[in-house]
Amino acid sequence: MKKIFGIVIILSVFMSCYKDKEELLYPNDFGLADTSSVATYTGFVKPLVAARCVSCHAGFGNYAGLKIVVDNGKFANRVLVKKDMPSGGPLSAEQLAKLDKWLKAGAPNN
Ligand code: HEC
Repeated sequence: MKKIFGIVIILSVFMSCYKDKEELLYPNDFGLADTSSVATYTGFVKPLVAARCVSCHAGFGNYAGLKIVVDNGKFANRVLVKKDMPSGGPLSAEQLAKLDKWLKAGAPNN
């Protein structure tokens, strides 16, 4: 009798997620990466700027320095609109899309 009771408890633990709706647990999950959650300052923007901009723009190496050109619109203008920065060659479409999302989110220091 004790054994059956134990099995029922184990089963109910496993079955407790049965009614969870997949679309509520995983919004946008079509097998595509959700870039909106990827583009953080420390995880994406900072290393990209370090690799592609800081050799010429030492001041962009930290958040405060980069935020100056983000806030005055020059970052978006040169990188996303004119696309003449970085001067060594354009960023990929994916990198531009991630930067755009980060800027639209208010360029958080996250
Ligand atoms: C090879 C050197 C070089 C690299 C790499 C480079 N830049 Fe520039 N950038 C310049 C020079 C030189 C200027 C000034 C002349 C001009 O405005 O075109 C400039 C100007 C700018 C300006 C305008 C600044 C102002 O105050 O008007 C922005 C914004 C900018 N760059 C952003 C970037 C970003 C962001 C990156 C990296 C994604 C980058 N640049 C990479 C050389 C570079």
